[in-house]
Amino acid sequence: MKTMLNIALPKGRLGEKVYAMFEKAGFECPSILENSRKLIFENEEKGVRYFWVKPSDVAIYVERGAADIGVAGKDILLEYEPNVYELFDLDIGKCRMAIAAKKDFRDDPQKTLKVATKFTNITKTYYAKKGRDIDIIHLNGSIEIAPILGLADVIADIVETGTTLKENNLEVIETIVPISARLIANKANFKFKSSQIEALVAALKCDGGKND
Ligand code: PRP
Repeated sequence: MKTMLNIALPKGRLGEKVYAMFEKAGFECPSILENSRKLIFENEEKGVRYFWVKPSDVAIYVERGAADIGVAGKDILLEYEPNVYELFDLDIGKCRMAIAAKKDFRDDPQKTLKVATKFTNITKTYYAKKGRDIDIIHLNGSIEIAPILGLADVIADIVETGTTLKENNLEVIETIVPISARLIANKANFKFKSSQIEALVAALKCDGGKND
């Protein structure tokens, strides 16, 4: 029996784009397109088993070997620093991590800066390099509200189209890092399944193309 490659896909719009790339590269699994609540799909003939997980959980499945490979945003990799191989930049899911503030915000370097974010590690590292004192306010979503209500001076968050900032009268004041989706692999499983993984990577680079 063929060894199956276990692949964790990020649930949602990015995951659909990722699956389309895998399909184009010859690793299709048609049942995944059926509208159901199922989370695991396999195509034994192609040797692939896909499963949908929360985007921020992909790296955990891969780090612990429940998935051999997966696709995670660079934001998650920088924030949690999972012990995985980063194999390949898929060049999709492109956005940036940025600092944003209200349009009339003026920074006072004498004061501790209050920063609201989901990404506390990225934010701490960024301001530590600048030697700036900050007070981190960890939130789980709708970060843009924090400066409006005076909970924070600025936010550190993902900006894709910029629409969310614009509609809340905020603007980017600094870019921290560009983000895109990366193919990651479990370190131990990579050794056992290297030929399959390398074949998949080669096919993605060749046929997967850019779907943005
Ligand atoms: C993300 C991010 C911003 C928004 C940026 O939020 O946190 O709020 O997308 O996209 P835009 O620049 O295209 O407007 P997400 O939808 O993941 O929800 P969240 O509020 O839970 O973070």
